[in-house]
Order: sequence, then structure tokens, then C-alpha cells
Amino acid sequence: MIKKEVGKGNKVRLTARVLLENRFLYSLLKGDGIVCDVSSYLAVRIDLPVKRESTLYALEKLGTGIKAAEVGVFCGDNALDIVTACRPKELHLIDPWEIGIVDGMFITEESYEIATGMLEPFVEEHNIKFIKGLSVQESCSYEDGYFDYVYIDARHDYDSVKADILAWEPKVRPGGILAGHDWKVEDVEKAVRETLGDKFIVTKSGMEWIYHKEIVC
Ligand SMILES: C[S@@+](CC[C@H](N)C(=O)[O-])C[C@H]1O[C@@H](n2cnc3c(N)ncnc32)[C@H](O)[C@@H]1O
Repeated sequence: MIKKEVGKGNKVRLTARVLLENRFLYSLLKGDGIVCDVSSYLAVRIDLPVKRESTLYALEKLGTGIKAAEVGVFCGDNALDIVTACRPKELHLIDPWEIGIVDGMFITEESYEIATGMLEPFVEEHNIKFIKGLSVQESCSYEDGYFDYVYIDARHDYDSVKADILAWEPKVRPGGILAGHDWKVEDVEKAVRETLGDKFIVTKSGMEWIYHKEIVC
């Protein structure tokens, strides 16, 4: 997980972890704890390779201009990749952004500011909506088949993953894609297998699962 901290005035503080995971960025910025404005950060971040195989899979199969959602957004790092690679016509970002510890990850109030600050330059063109809410509840706001692509990366315990898949699968249109992160988490694997049977693939890295919904004629 790449963590960014934003100070006042849309500054991005590049933490040691960001720099460690983005050696390319490190070589460009030559240092740790550097604070730069969002536009400078994006200028280099945008040229980094897309991190998730699911994003590239969605791009290859669905093309650009899709209606997409991410469930579990945190600081918006993966959302940024979805925006820059898939160039969605709508992107719905769902997360309570509540302070607390989720699956061992410390969620601070800054994560919402970071996500909104980072994605702000893309909000209008890609119709990005930040929805402060819970996965299953928020899924009810959409009609079935609304999305081309939904990415699940919220809680990783068995009950939550299962509930998320059951809630969001109907919201994906036939021919669309439902995918999620952290396949290597035992609970995630169990929930995916139980809900999707054998109708999914695991990416090469073993980190993600992808379900390409059949078109039934
Ligand atoms: C692993 S992080 C998401 C990381 C993000 N997908 C990325 O790759 O950049 C998990 C996020 O899920 C959110 N979350 C926890 N419970 C949730 C729920 N019931 N519905 C939606 N999001 C939830 C947390 O607030 C946290 O920000």
C-alpha cells in the first residue's frame, strides 16, 4: 500500500514508503519526505506503470469510457490508475473514510483529503463521485447492470468480502468485470470461491481475482 500524506494547500508528502515502492519517482525527486504540490506529484506519478493487473485487464477487455466503481478507496492510489488507464466516463468511489483501524491499516481523516486532492484535476472530465458510505448499503443506490467495471478492495474478512461480492455482482452488466484485491488473504479466497464458483481467474501475481461476467443470450 502506498501511503501519501497531504498537508494544507494540497501538498503531497512523499513518504519513505512511496519512495521505496516508486524507485523511479525517487530517482526523479532525489530524497525522502519531499513535499511537493499535487500537480508536480501527478506529473511524475502519471508516467509510472499501472500497478494492478485488474486495471489493465479491464482496459483490454472493456476499453476506455467505462462506468466504473471502486469499493474501498483509501488514499485513491488505485483510483488514480483506473482514471489514467481506463479514462472512465463515470467513476464512483465508495469508502466511509472513517478514522480507525481496518484490517490492520490505520485510516486517518487525511485519507479522504488525499484521495480528493489527488483526484481533483480529473473530477470533471471523468465524472468522479466521492461517496462516503458503506459498500453494501451504497450498492443499493444503483440499478442492476449499471457498471462496466467494479473493483472491490474494502474489508478483507470472509463475511465482508462475501457480502461485497453478493451486493456488487448484480450491479455489473453482462460482459462487464468484477474484480478484487488481496486474493492471497485466506478469507478473500474462501469468499470468492464460495460466491463465484470457478467463474473467475487469479492474476499472474496472485494478488487479484477477476470475474468477467458472462453475456447470457
Ligand atoms: C485496502 S484499503 C483500499 C485501498 C485502495 N483500493 C487502493 O488500492 O488504493 C481499504 C479501504 O476500505 C475502506 N472500507 C472499510 N470498510 C468499508 C466498507 N464497508 N465499505 C467501503 N469501504 C470500506 C477503508 O476505509 C479503507 O480506506
